[in-house]
Amino acid sequence: MSSPNPLVGDNVPAHILSLLESLHAESLKQESGITKADYENSVVDSNMKDKFIALEQDKCHFVYQLIRSTNAKCVVEAGTSFGVSTIYLALAVAANCRATGGQGKVIGTEHEPDKAKEARKYWNECGEIVSNIVDLREGDLRETLKTDLETVDFLLLDIWTPMALPTLQLVQPKLKQGAVIIADNTIGSAVGYKELLDYMRAPGSGFTNLTLPYHKGLEMSVYCPQA
Ligand SMILES: C[S@@+](CC[C@H](N)C(=O)[O-])C[C@H]1O[C@@H](n2cnc3c(N)ncnc32)[C@H](O)[C@@H]1O
Repeated sequence: MSSPNPLVGDNVPAHILSLLESLHAESLKQESGITKADYENSVVDSNMKDKFIALEQDKCHFVYQLIRSTNAKCVVEAGTSFGVSTIYLALAVAANCRATGGQGKVIGTEHEPDKAKEARKYWNECGEIVSNIVDLREGDLRETLKTDLETVDFLLLDIWTPMALPTLQLVQPKLKQGAVIIADNTIGSAVGYKELLDYMRAPGSGFTNLTLPYHKGLEMSVYCPQA
């Protein structure tokens, strides 16, 4: 039996569910043509400029559930691309705000202008439930995340691996006690993630860490610094 879709339980409109299905399908189709070398050279490889590389749907569902369960209202996403995972983040934050009040925000980051433009188009197709929540910061996240960051409840690291540790270190001063950090492909890209994983797993780092058995691994860490 297939897993239920958590978005259905939150009455997410049908047109958003079908848009997500088609975006995931498009992403998977593209990925079959991406080589290991493309991933390894992703920082400089122009071949990745028009690729979705969206977080897999089962991982998006898990992230959605995490945000709902922690009532996260300020989420940072490192690596937005065409904004597929961002839709889940925004829907979960919007549901939290409906349930418990207050304002919510998803800060997206993307340095490819064409991807940013396309992402905004998909968010507009979803409607205000998504487009009103997302604050997309265009440009290199090492600059765009330097300012205007309030307390962060949840951080998704879905970015080229050399950017993962610099992103975490930039956001870390704003992480709330108990903030959740998700990093994708930490088994499949263990070599690329070495610096990040060494940093988070070092004694006294302030992070508790768990590798979840999703395809190519998904790291779930919680920021719990000792007083
Ligand atoms: C794996 S994709 C993100 C996929 C997206 N989270 C999703 O599930 O739809 C990573 C993205 O990070 C972007 N990126 C890489 N380095 C960046 C940087 N320094 N600043 C901003 N964006 C960056 C890439 O252009 C790429 O679109």
